[in-house]
Amino acid sequence: MKEKITKLTAECKAEINAASTENELYSVKVKYLGKSGLISDLMKGMRDLSPEERPFVGKIVNEARGKLEELFSARGAALHEAELEAKLAAEKIDITINKNTTVGKLHPLNAVRKRLVDFFVSMGFDVMDGPEVETDYYNFEALNVPKDHPARDMQDTFFINDGILLRSQTSASQIRYMEKVKPPLKMISPGRVFRNDDDATHSPVFHQLEGLVVDKGITMCDLKGILDLFAKHFFGEDTKVRFRPSYFPFTEPSVEVDVSCSICHGAGCKICKGTGWIEILGAGIVNRKVLRGCGIDPDEYTGFAFGFGIDRIANIIHSIPHIKLLYENDVRFLKQF
Ligand code: PHE
Repeated sequence: MKEKITKLTAECKAEINAASTENELYSVKVKYLGKSGLISDLMKGMRDLSPEERPFVGKIVNEARGKLEELFSARGAALHEAELEAKLAAEKIDITINKNTTVGKLHPLNAVRKRLVDFFVSMGFDVMDGPEVETDYYNFEALNVPKDHPARDMQDTFFINDGILLRSQTSASQIRYMEKVKPPLKMISPGRVFRNDDDATHSPVFHQLEGLVVDKGITMCDLKGILDLFAKHFFGEDTKVRFRPSYFPFTEPSVEVDVSCSICHGAGCKICKGTGWIEILGAGIVNRKVLRGCGIDPDEYTGFAFGFGIDRIANIIHSIPHIKLLYENDVRFLKQF
């Protein structure tokens, strides 16, 4: 029995040393020390020994077992270390190699939005973000569009239920802002808006940027001044701005604002549909009712508001013929910017 143990121990030691991976070592361990391994088999054989022999042999087997366990864990640790080192060496990444990397960039819509926001921020405008799911009150009623008012037809709105809707205009943010901030105030609110419209120049989801200035003595001239700067900055120094009378319930008087076509410089082309002018936004002097509704005295303060489509501005700047191109995320299209 004793020789048997010595022989098995020696064989096991040789196999431990021969194992070259952790997996191999594990197989050796199972072979000798496993439940039905060779050493365990020896223990079973003890049944046949005499009661005097048993403690003696048991001791030798246990000692041998303990020794082997130690060898297994030492060899295991060494193999683990070696394997890790080999793996690290094989997977080494040379971070100084910089071949054929493609660098991502902003989507043209986001890039234009960022430029627009930067422009107004540089003039001291505060930026406000309003909710896309809005109440009827902020989107319509507080903007002087009561229920059943025909002006609701100007915007084909997605209603969620009676009092809740997807905002059809960022003008809703004006009200939220004026409820919190009292004049003098200057704010813009860029964001997504929703309307049931779908053609080459309209998408059910698009982006607007609302602007609002309220202070003592604000007039149409201040609006014209800001929009002149805006037009020159985005469409070129020689761009002209023209106001046409219009109607919005929340401004009085209201105007539609056109810029001279930066492609043909007024001669008439496809982009301006032969007119020499491109319509870019709606604006006006904030309706007295709207100011009063927000707790601002319209005899003391006046203001102007304007709102335009960011998508439209991006399309004009980049001569993009169809609004959907901005939403399809076709990389062949996006790569051009
Ligand atoms: N909210 C208007 C629209 O979506 C635009 C606008 C904003 C007009 C502010 C006047 C003042 O058509």
